[in-house]
Amino acid sequence: MNNLRIILIALIIPSLLMIPYSILSFYTDFANNNPDPSLATVSFQGNNYNAIEGKRTFEQYQCMGCHSIVGNGAYFGPDLTKVYRRMNGNDAALAAYLLSGIPAKGMPPMRDRGMSEEDAYRTVAFLKYAQMLDTNDWPNNGSWDRDGNIDGVQAEHISPSGIWQIVLGIIFFNLLVFGIIIVYEREKEGKI
Ligand code: HEC
Repeated sequence: MNNLRIILIALIIPSLLMIPYSILSFYTDFANNNPDPSLATVSFQGNNYNAIEGKRTFEQYQCMGCHSIVGNGAYFGPDLTKVYRRMNGNDAALAAYLLSGIPAKGMPPMRDRGMSEEDAYRTVAFLKYAQMLDTNDWPNNGSWDRDGNIDGVQAEHISPSGIWQIVLGIIFFNLLVFGIIIVYEREKEGKI
């Protein structure tokens, strides 16, 4: 076996492995199950606020100075990954909680820090998204179940990045096969 054949086999084996991998990526256990943040919305007075805006308010009011998300952040207050579930998915109650806080227990009233009702609902949208993240049951705050479908928002679907991964995989696979055919033909013609 000459060197060229060895190189070709070394290229073909990983490209064949990509076929089952691409197929498996359609199954939810292997795909990225996390929902599109723009789908996690809450409405208040006829307007919708989504988790992308909510991430900004979450940063603006420095929630991470005291709290954590999936265990990262500060440990003064409780982890907020699943807090939306702990509060039974009640948007209005959660927004009201953020605005008035529990000063005696260390949760500051966000109204005092300039938070508007709209910003409170934006932050709630971010917390709604956070509880949909597939964290493999960690941190387990009691009411975590893996389906995460709330208000008809599906937690399990292939995200756009998952689809691009498959499309790029197919393009690269085709380029590889094309390249191998060219090398093989030229070798037959004795040009390599
Ligand atoms: C100065 C520290 C501090 C900041 C800043 C802070 N929190 Fe808190 N938060 C706390 C503490 C302490 C508690 C626990 C209160 C208690 O024991 O009842 C708490 C409780 C909570 C709870 C209820 C948690 C539960 O499991 O019942 C939520 C929701 C919450 N905070 C959200 C936020 C959000 C959102 C922000 C940013 C807008 C924020 N907090 C900013 C300290 C803080």
